Amino acid sequence: MTKYRSQSWLGRKDKSGFIARSWLKNQGLPNDVFDGRPVIGICNTWSELTPCNAHLRDLAEQVKMGVLEAGGVAFEFPVMSLGEALMKPTTMLFRNLASMDVEESIRGNPIDGVVLLTNCDKTTPSCLMGAASVDLPTLVVSGGPMLNGKYQGKDIGSGTDLWKFSEDLRAGVITQTAFDEVENSMSRSPGACNTMGTASTLACMVEALGLSLPGSAAIPAVDAARRRNARLSGRRIVEMVEENLCLSHILTRQAFENAIKVNAAIGGSTNFILHLLAIAGRIEVPLTLEDFDHLSQHIPLLANLKPSGAFLMEDFYYAGGVPAVIGQLLDRLHGAARQCNGKTLTENYQHAPILNPQVIASHEQAFGEDAGTIVLKGNLCVDGAVIKPSAATPQLLNHRARAVVFEDIEDYNRRINDPDLDVRPEDILVLKGAGPQGYPGMPEVGNFGLPLKMLQQGIRDMVRISDGRMSGTAFGTIVLHVSPESTVGGTLALVRNGDLIELNCRERRLTLHVSDEELARRKAQWQPVLPDYPRGYANLYIRTVQQAHTGADLNFLPGKSGSDIKREPH
Ligand code: FES
Ligand code: MG
Repeated sequence: MTKYRSQSWLGRKDKSGFIARSWLKNQGLPNDVFDGRPVIGICNTWSELTPCNAHLRDLAEQVKMGVLEAGGVAFEFPVMSLGEALMKPTTMLFRNLASMDVEESIRGNPIDGVVLLTNCDKTTPSCLMGAASVDLPTLVVSGGPMLNGKYQGKDIGSGTDLWKFSEDLRAGVITQTAFDEVENSMSRSPGACNTMGTASTLACMVEALGLSLPGSAAIPAVDAARRRNARLSGRRIVEMVEENLCLSHILTRQAFENAIKVNAAIGGSTNFILHLLAIAGRIEVPLTLEDFDHLSQHIPLLANLKPSGAFLMEDFYYAGGVPAVIGQLLDRLHGAARQCNGKTLTENYQHAPILNPQVIASHEQAFGEDAGTIVLKGNLCVDGAVIKPSAATPQLLNHRARAVVFEDIEDYNRRINDPDLDVRPEDILVLKGAGPQGYPGMPEVGNFGLPLKMLQQGIRDMVRISDGRMSGTAFGTIVLHVSPESTVGGTLALVRNGDLIELNCRERRLTLHVSDEELARRKAQWQPVLPDYPRGYANLYIRTVQQAHTGADLNFLPGKSGSDIKREPH
């Protein structure tokens, strides 16, 4: 029998072995569970403060049964959970912290393989980043989306419809009473946002990477198939330990390329870019911001899902889900990429049917021609910026206008409803101070609302530019992730009211039409203002976080430390 790493805790006949076994036995474990069978960690981001993950204890029980059925033993453990709906100033500030929790919890314990239970946006990348730095056999079980929201007989989607209703409320188009009713109608069951927001995007990413069982990404949280998937994942992780199928055997450059193409086809969230870059950094696969542009060029939009389209995740599941999308893209993907069930991508997906062509299109009848992310370069974003054309107003993708500048979010909040604000419908709105260091944590404020004056004139989209992120559920002509950010002295810091800005998506350029001499003069007068965090994790974060174009990990976290530990605790 192979000797797994857990045996260096549990298989010893000395004081250390006594301690490890004896204390675990207080949970009623019999002797034979320590006989060298695979020990599976169930890494759970369950929390009642992360409502999207509140049902993960139930799924953990299913995983545990699967592990037992396959002859392993399972231990569930909690890690830091990050809930988008509640955490201030932004969960992104804590993604890297949570990843450290995951990494050390896995490495420091007698675990041979791990199942990551994730759902809400940051819980997926934080778990994967941490697990990648240890590199054991690893499977992901996502929690699945909520049922479709229903308001007055119509489907409403998490986030996406909230942004619409909230602008309608500001513009006086709907009443407060109607707005309150929507609040009761949007979140109808356990699970993640039911739009193709970041959580569902990342569940699809995980499946496309080959890290969850085929067909699992879109199963609604409350569907029995979701529990069955958890059960089967528990069985499979035991085999993966027996096969020594580690994370790095699946997370190859080919797998990352597949995920980028699938993300384009589903109209996935821009947050995908940051998280995939950070995961690649941990597993030591070279990946750059530019890869997202050239790999996703000419990938058609195949999913008609909010925020880019009309339907919701429940519809996506019934229409065939990720398998149907991958089935259409097979000629464009690396079919030989190995996946967690031991099969190749082609073997897993070649016969996947489209069950509803209104929701999932064939390659020949795509919903859009070029769905991928556009990576912009230019003097306003020397290291890059991104825009999601499938969520934008096509006529604004190539646009030249004067800048209306907000120095930070407080300045924005003070002036956005001001009837005297000097703004015209064709202007470009600029928000500074929303980057990783500046906020801190790079919040989802990039889809900041339009000036009240504009809403009242019926305007519903304007070009917006910032160093922040936007919610995966958001839409609009929104340039994000400007790098370097304003707080570290990127050109964004130097933009002034009335400057001419040119967004040129055709040529992938973002230009501030101000001379180099003038920019140098402004730079000489510029003073950095770091947010005031004299102590604690936020202080460490501000000092060590990297810029958006590399994934915004802390500078000491990329790479792996493996699973070996030399010293004993007692
Ligand atoms: Fe948790 Fe959207 S708020 S998935
Ligand atoms: Mg989100």
